[in-house]
Amino acid sequence: MAPRRALITGISGQDGSYLAELLLSKGYEVHGIVRRVAIEDPEHRLGRIQHLLERIVLHAGSLESYASMHAVVRQSQPQECYHLAAQSFVSYSFEDEFSTLNTNINGTHYLLSALKSEAPECRFYFAASSEMFGRAEETPQHERTRFHPRSAYGISKVAGYELTRNYREAHRLHASSGILFNHESPRGFEFVSRKITAAVARIAAGRGGKLKLGNMEARRDWGYAPEYVEAMWMMLQQPVADDYVVASGETHSVCEFAELAFSHAGLDWREHVEIDPVLYRPAEVELLLGDFSKARRTLGWKPGTSFEGLVRSMVDADLALARAR
Ligand code: GDD
Repeated sequence: MAPRRALITGISGQDGSYLAELLLSKGYEVHGIVRRVAIEDPEHRLGRIQHLLERIVLHAGSLESYASMHAVVRQSQPQECYHLAAQSFVSYSFEDEFSTLNTNINGTHYLLSALKSEAPECRFYFAASSEMFGRAEETPQHERTRFHPRSAYGISKVAGYELTRNYREAHRLHASSGILFNHESPRGFEFVSRKITAAVARIAAGRGGKLKLGNMEARRDWGYAPEYVEAMWMMLQQPVADDYVVASGETHSVCEFAELAFSHAGLDWREHVEIDPVLYRPAEVELLLGDFSKARRTLGWKPGTSFEGLVRSMVDADLALARAR
């Protein structure tokens, strides 16, 4: 039997790299879309998928161009498409709302439209986000909790979620959204979790410096990224497309994250962390906590890594990296 063919946008990111590994382990033919500059400079830009390059097919394309999305879909003829690419930094979305909205909303729309015309049987996954809940009206948040996004990023994800639902209802696409809460790993770079664990390793290695953080009272529901990509795959194996919250079901503050990360390396966070008001966001999402009972019931998915396990594994990975330098 011919292998199933999957197309991943954002394949060079944290989730894309774990998902590519998962699909390869299941015997899929894996295609990915990356920017042309990445194909020309794989060493720097494709670091997370360096070890997979001989086993996957990369296509140059841009979320900003319908023509390029259409061409990649036509050439690759995917049976499953995972749309993970986005401008995904919430704080950057305050600096440039226009590019965040353009890239994230149009990119999703272009891809859905290309699938509708070139591969209408393809199953589609949209990477929605708990940022859509924003100033949430209820805790924990579940699939029916009203959205109240607090950033251009959150707004762009609500639009992508609605586009996905509309293509499911109006054009009969098998299109699902995963409302993923924060999920991290040693392969993440940009978010507060890795910023903290990298600083812990730097300080533990004697290279000093203070760690500057913004709002340490914000609370997040943090899980382990490789487990979350399994939920994405499970969604596309369902006979009927639907939307699911994927979360750990625990909430912790940024301060608790820092405290645990520093103490795991034998350090006291209070001696190394400084608050920098510049890092506060104009509108903050104060509390996220996900209710993943629908994913557990329907997909049979549940998280396997505790908050403590996640933080410790990220610190250990950064300590090992620092030692190898
Ligand atoms: N990035 C960052 N840097 N965040 C900080 C800092 C800092 O120095 N100091 C405090 N924070 C706070 C932020 O204000 C926020 O409340 C919290 O730490 C988490 O910020 P991030 O790690 O940047 O993640 P995020 O929650 O904004 O967004 C992540 O999760 C979403 C899912 O809920 C990203 O992965 C998004 O792409 C994803 O959709």
